[in-house]
Amino acid sequence: MALAEVTGSLLTDALAEIASDVDADFDALLPQTGDARARLVEAMRYAAIGGGKRIRPLLLTATARLYGVDRDAAVRAGVAVESIHVYSLIHDDLPCMDDDALRHGKPTVHLTFDEATAVLAGDALHALAFEILADAAVSADPFVRVELLRTLGEASGLRGMAGGQMMDLVAETSSFDLPTITRLQQLKTGALLAASVEMGAILGHVPPEGRTHLRGYARDVGLAFQIADDLIDREGDASVAGKAVGKDEAAGKQTFLTLLGPDRAREQARMLVDQAIAHLADYGSEADLLRAIARYIVERDH
Ligand code: IPE
Ligand code: IPE
Ligand code: MG
Ligand code: MG
Ligand code: MG
Repeated sequence: MALAEVTGSLLTDALAEIASDVDADFDALLPQTGDARARLVEAMRYAAIGGGKRIRPLLLTATARLYGVDRDAAVRAGVAVESIHVYSLIHDDLPCMDDDALRHGKPTVHLTFDEATAVLAGDALHALAFEILADAAVSADPFVRVELLRTLGEASGLRGMAGGQMMDLVAETSSFDLPTITRLQQLKTGALLAASVEMGAILGHVPPEGRTHLRGYARDVGLAFQIADDLIDREGDASVAGKAVGKDEAAGKQTFLTLLGPDRAREQARMLVDQAIAHLADYGSEADLLRAIARYIVERDH
């Protein structure tokens, strides 16, 4: 069997498995309340269950697996990252931000519910992430839990996703050079992807000095991921992507594509993937899933 086919089934199986594990965890973590908060729980479940590709939990569990971490614990930590991701999408789609009507192939949370409920669903998913990581189900070791909390906190806030989202809004009205766009993307998208890999290594008790190659992998994957997202926005199909396309150009947003053009951007993304895989040279077949994820990230159509 060709290597691509082996890698393909490895990835397909892993994507299906993480999707079902993440859904099961969210289902257990978000029971209906049966009181006046019911609408909030419904909105959280609507956004979190049966959603996206689950790339962040997949990266976290694939990294944790290198170090023999218990799968349930790694999935639970992955659900914390996904909780932040889902919240960021709910808020990203709000009228005051990207004003989008479609997410994961269904109407966005503020349209299905209302804006106030969407804001609260985001707030509550944000809080849930940290509640999950503070719980012993993720790790019996309180030092590990604190490091996970710090890593996800940093990747979500001013020095991560939220900071990148601010730069992204500013990018609609000012012109940034390539290093600034790179910084924007690293914060907006790269930070949570990198945190996923980092958290897998933290669960594996890998000391910071042992994480250099994994960090290199995560940085390159993060940039390639955002270029792919921008390409989907420019060239993709809304029914496949599950979200509206052509939004970046309509908003006059500066991206890698506006600076490099689609051909050079695609070339750059492929180069970043090769570079990401090269960072894994010290690992054997146990890192094949991480290699397959890197390839998938640029070849995906949604
Ligand atoms: C989309 O992320 C938003 C960005 C951060 C670029 P994903 O592509 O991972 O979203 P899902 O898979 O639809 O949840
Ligand atoms: C959103 O980036 C990134 C987040 C941190 C939510 P985009 O605005 O490009 O994501 P899509 O294209 O709506 O998924
Ligand atoms: Mg946006
Ligand atoms: Mg958006
Ligand atoms: Mg986009």
